Amino acid sequence: MKSLRITNTITAIIFLLIIFSIFSYIMYNNQKQMLSADIDTFLYATSLSVADSINILLEENKIDVSEFNQRINQYFQRIIKSWISINGIEDPKLLNMLVQIYDRKGIIIATSRQGPKMIMKISPEEFKILASGTNYTGTFDIDTSNKKTLSLRYISIPVMNQNKKIVYIIRVALSLRTMTFSMYNLKIVLFILIPFTIILSGILGFFLTGFTLSPVNKIIVSINEITAINLKKRLNVSEYNDELKILASTFNDMIERLDNSFQSQKHLIENLYHELKTPLSIIRGEIEITLNKKRDADTYKNVLLSNIEEIDRITRILENLLLISRFESKLEVTDFGKVDIIKIVSEIAERFKIVCDPRSIILTMNSCPKAIIKGDEKQIKSMIVNLIDNAVKYNIDRGSINIFISSENGKITITIKNTGIGIPEETIDYIFDRYYRAIKSSGTKGAGLGLNIVKTVVDIHKGNITVRSVVNNWTEFEVVLPEA
Ligand SMILES: Nc1ncnc2c1ncn2[C@@H]1O[C@H](COP(=O)(O)OP(=O)(O)OP(=O)(O)O)[C@@H](O)[C@H]1O
Ligand SMILES: [Mg+2]
Repeated sequence: MKSLRITNTITAIIFLLIIFSIFSYIMYNNQKQMLSADIDTFLYATSLSVADSINILLEENKIDVSEFNQRINQYFQRIIKSWISINGIEDPKLLNMLVQIYDRKGIIIATSRQGPKMIMKISPEEFKILASGTNYTGTFDIDTSNKKTLSLRYISIPVMNQNKKIVYIIRVALSLRTMTFSMYNLKIVLFILIPFTIILSGILGFFLTGFTLSPVNKIIVSINEITAINLKKRLNVSEYNDELKILASTFNDMIERLDNSFQSQKHLIENLYHELKTPLSIIRGEIEITLNKKRDADTYKNVLLSNIEEIDRITRILENLLLISRFESKLEVTDFGKVDIIKIVSEIAERFKIVCDPRSIILTMNSCPKAIIKGDEKQIKSMIVNLIDNAVKYNIDRGSINIFISSENGKITITIKNTGIGIPEETIDYIFDRYYRAIKSSGTKGAGLGLNIVKTVVDIHKGNITVRSVVNNWTEFEVVLPEA
């Protein structure tokens, strides 16, 4: 349980970490690009406004740009100063700005700020680009007094005459300090915010999983209380929410099945003991008495015949119990093939003669020439054995058993009719139930499994079984199976 909580939390944390990292990376770069684009636009607009101011002042002072000479250099200084004073007072951005004018050879002639560090040379490559009439943007690092470097973003625009020659160059630069600072701030915020959010979600997830799983804990405690001897206990389904309700009721169903099979196992073992005890003690008693003194051959023969009868009974009980438990646990695999009903019935009837003879029960068999069905031979045999066994067991001495096999309309009918105690009408509905024995038959031995097996086999073979009986007179079982 704990590991599920931890695994869940760790998975969530890793997931969040990946998502946040991608998100921060995209956001940081986007922000940086946006700010850079803003700065470039601002620089360009400013440089155009400087160019405008210069034009106006040159015109006012009637200075021809083509006669550009040392004299007008002082003008530029004034021009810049006046431009700064017009624009700069209200706009704090301009305080971080540097406006410079270079002559046609790229030598500085005027600057808005003095000082050797403020001189930025125009590189030959830049000059080449400017000479072609194109603006140039770039970044420049200068060392400041406190050993820090100051990054400047700048734009240079060439002012050309009619002959497409540079007259002078305006360069406007802006310190990137504000941008660097705001990017740094963003970085800090992301670095603090992301781990904080992840840790918080982790803690929340951990407790939430615990909270969600607590009913599972409850189920575990209840399940632990259910033991092999306490299979009657069930989980209270209404206590749980939807998903766990399904789990709890599935578990209850499982316990129900377990309980049923546990009960039937118990029943089986009790029955086995009960059923085997009698025939085994009969065999033992008979052998013991016979061994007491010397007997004649007939006595030995009779005892051994009686032993065979009991042993057959034991075998039948064991076979029935095994088959029933295989049906129950769905282990029985039905192996369909062609089954010769006449052959099987006559073989089994022959075997039962040994039980019929001592009681003078007459067993007859009438059949059509051919009766083949599609079925599992082992199961069909067990069905016939159980039906004939009942016909002998619930018969009277000097009674009769008549077996008829007929084939009609693609159906094979096996009828087993016997004289005897009969089945009271009110009990007929129950004789196929497992462990059911009619009260009248309590004098005879049996587990109440035979007819249950018969019915199961008939159902597997998609057949039909009917019973007719007159109490104290006769009973007739009729099994109809589809022909092969
Ligand atoms: N041919 C029959 N004549 C009269 N009663 C019958 C006949 N066959 C079955 N019964 C009644 O139906 C009950 C159920 O039969 P079933 O074969 O299932 O059990 P059983 O014979 O008592 O035990 P088992 O077959 O397991 O040894 C019997 O106890 C008996 O009362
Ligand atoms: Mg029986």
